[in-house]
Amino acid sequence: MNLLKIGDLKLKHRTVLAPMASLTDIVFRRTVDEIGGIGLMVTELISAEGLRRKQRRTLEMTRTFDFKTPQFIQLFGSEPEAFAEASEFIENETSFSGIDINMGCPARKVVKKGAGSALLLDPPEAGKICRAVRKAVSLPLTVKIRLGYESENLHEVLNVLISEGVDAVTIHFRLKSDYYSGDARWEFAEGLKDKFDTVLIGNGDIKSPDDAREKFELVDGIMIGRAAIKNPFIFSEIAGDPPGMDGKMEVAGRIMELIEEYYPPVLRLQRIKAFTKYLTAGRPHSKKIKHEIYRSHSFEEVRSLFEIIFN
Ligand SMILES: Cc1cc2nc3c(=O)[nH]c(=O)nc-3n(C[C@H](O)[C@H](O)[C@H](O)COP(=O)(O)O)c2cc1C
Repeated sequence: MNLLKIGDLKLKHRTVLAPMASLTDIVFRRTVDEIGGIGLMVTELISAEGLRRKQRRTLEMTRTFDFKTPQFIQLFGSEPEAFAEASEFIENETSFSGIDINMGCPARKVVKKGAGSALLLDPPEAGKICRAVRKAVSLPLTVKIRLGYESENLHEVLNVLISEGVDAVTIHFRLKSDYYSGDARWEFAEGLKDKFDTVLIGNGDIKSPDDAREKFELVDGIMIGRAAIKNPFIFSEIAGDPPGMDGKMEVAGRIMELIEEYYPPVLRLQRIKAFTKYLTAGRPHSKKIKHEIYRSHSFEEVRSLFEIIFN
């Protein structure tokens, strides 16, 4: 199996943890890093403007740890200057291994500011942002896109991104207007590697090692989102590596421990509730216990509910 190389960075595995707002924070990335078997992890989306202004909440999202797996920071925004300044900060002040630009987010509050998937409507502007980052830093640069906004313009966007020298492009095989519904349209991956000279990472609905093996035939690397929150062992299962943790209860316990390490008491309950839907999926009595967790007023009570569900 070919290794994945993004710029000068050689990855040990061809798998990537997807950026997911309020999920792929330092707690979850550290948990996945400890389980292992993964090539790259991407942070949740982080505002380029917030970083440029050194806003406290934004800076907190750039916290990192002594990791085995390389991590990229994902930036969103619409101003090339803000991207350039934020990228300089990342290169000079953090240990992230690269930068990923968000050109896929469908959320209204992001799109109405010309950021996220709105950039797919304006490929020249998307190109300017890549150029500004490229000029500002030498870190590896990737971009995450969708097939298009309301209609597909994948090849047009890929041509612009490649001409600006990005090191890899991740494609979530849906339109912005699909949000997360319907099946990801992997038929658009057919023949793409022959047409475009860049590293292509495919994303959307990969749920098992069998899905992964099938998609590796079409793209250079694969990115997994929701299935990795439900089953953080998926990367070690794909790699065939022994995992660094034993079962979901250990995962839930580690997530709670890290929440206590990184977040003040007032935020802890809200943080663990964000993972609940995914961690409890498919467990016996998960519906009932999930609702008890949502109604819970204490972090300790959530711990005992997890013990019931995982034991
Ligand atoms: C709760 C949630 C938050 C997400 N946040 C982001 C984000 O911050 N940046 C981004 O590029 N994509 C984001 N996505 C999209 C995922 O990265 C991914 O493209 C999508 O979930 C499809 O992959 P999957 O089927 O493996 O989950 C998010 C998805 C979910 C479900």
